[in-house]
Amino acid sequence: MKTDSFAIARSQLTREPSDTAAEPDKKVNYVRRLFSEGPDEYDFLLKILSLGRDNYWRRSMVQKAESRVSNMVLDIACGTGLVTYSFAKTGAYVVGIDVTREMLKHALELREYRIFDVDFILARAENLPLQPDVFDASTISLALRNVSSQVETLSEMRRCTKKGKPVMSLDFARPRGHLFKPFYRFYIFRVLPTFGLVISKHWKVIFLYLANSIEKSRDPERIKETMESIGLNESSVKRMTHGTTALVSGIK
Ligand SMILES: C[S@@+](CC[C@H](N)C(=O)[O-])C[C@H]1O[C@@H](n2cnc3c(N)ncnc32)[C@H](O)[C@@H]1O
Repeated sequence: MKTDSFAIARSQLTREPSDTAAEPDKKVNYVRRLFSEGPDEYDFLLKILSLGRDNYWRRSMVQKAESRVSNMVLDIACGTGLVTYSFAKTGAYVVGIDVTREMLKHALELREYRIFDVDFILARAENLPLQPDVFDASTISLALRNVSSQVETLSEMRRCTKKGKPVMSLDFARPRGHLFKPFYRFYIFRVLPTFGLVISKHWKVIFLYLANSIEKSRDPERIKETMESIGLNESSVKRMTHGTTALVSGIK
């Protein structure tokens, strides 16, 4: 365990915790309810939904961040910790933040069996209980659609990141090709919810939420503009898997 080498940094990491439950809004309450019931099946269903591409998406993010031993990485809306542990595998110390206790519990269970250096904090992305200028990279994966405020979330990620280091969002996107688009819509609105129902009624609801949130989501190019508007430079968009996923990043 590399815990000792991070002991000083860790003690300087958190700031006065803010009581996130004190500022509930409809969206965060809905999202929390939605994800509370799904942690056990989440990793497996993400594999199905991504047709096995999710490892590649996460690898792209880890490579972009040039993550390595002694780095400190912030993983916002970490869920079951898939991204958290991907970064931890590079030897980085990773802090995962999520608003859903059940997702974090699942992520913590994995920590028991692994030697990776990770910590998890129950908090809202829009109001991080963390000191400024601490992390070598900040990430949010498959979740910018879910947060109540994208600007506040990205601004908080920027605040906690060191100067010259990346802030990144990986998320689903609407593909652009006219031929592929209808197939993709059919897949997310029909195939996935039907498949979800095989697991449980709740997973059907999650998949329908996913389809609707992708349909309403902002284009990656707009997210890039938001990043620029909050002071991130050298911003870029990398579309992957026929444009169904995009990695948007900027440098503080
Ligand atoms: C689809 S999961 C993504 C999990 C993980 N990042 C991944 O790539 O597999 C979305 C996660 O976002 C979390 N979330 C949604 N809104 C949030 C917010 N405002 N603050 C913190 N976490 C949030 C949910 O609790 C859920 O665990």
